[in-house]
Amino acid sequence: MTAPEPIRQTPPAPVGRSPLYRDDWEYIAKTDLLQFTRAEYATLRAQRTVYDAERQAASALALLTAGEHEPTFGYQINNYQHCLQAATMLHADGYDEETIVVGLLHDVGFLACPDRHGAFAAELVGGYVSDENYWMLRHHQAFATFAAADDDEPDREFPWHRWRDHPSATWAHTFVRHYDQNAIDPSYGNRPLEFFEPMVRRIFSRSPKPLRLDS
Ligand SMILES: [Fe+2]
Ligand SMILES: [Fe+2]
Repeated sequence: MTAPEPIRQTPPAPVGRSPLYRDDWEYIAKTDLLQFTRAEYATLRAQRTVYDAERQAASALALLTAGEHEPTFGYQINNYQHCLQAATMLHADGYDEETIVVGLLHDVGFLACPDRHGAFAAELVGGYVSDENYWMLRHHQAFATFAAADDDEPDREFPWHRWRDHPSATWAHTFVRHYDQNAIDPSYGNRPLEFFEPMVRRIFSRSPKPLRLDS
């Protein structure tokens, strides 16, 4: 990519420093990472470790609660309640904590990233969950069926056969069929977000798997 011509005008007023997370922490008072010393990087790493551990879960939950009062485009409950309902149903059926959290966050990106929301959720939690749950999140939107019940010959088959031989396909199909497409019921008693928050914190407190970029 070619660099654009710089805009040589009077710049806006300085943005100023953001507050430090803790009063006894240090700013690295340089404006270019290439100037940081080893000692400064060590300071940054130490502070970041604490920051990530204490802030990541809250930030992920804030993405979900951003839609708490959003109106819907037609379903009887909004995306926030749908996510709570999926998690509540998984909990009621005795699923493990990781899977409950995966259910809670499976549509966390639906409002801001609707067409790729499966990948959005998969990358959000991918470092902390099983390969099976990662794959399910990434693919779940392709496992849904929108076949109309009053079609003359409705195709009730869920469109998952393309991945039939994949080891995670059965779980993705199960999730979508039993904890997603039917989790839109206003008469169902959702557990509140507070019920799931400790679970979310525990999942994000796991050591993340390394990121593998293949292209
Ligand atoms: Fe979804
Ligand atoms: Fe969903």
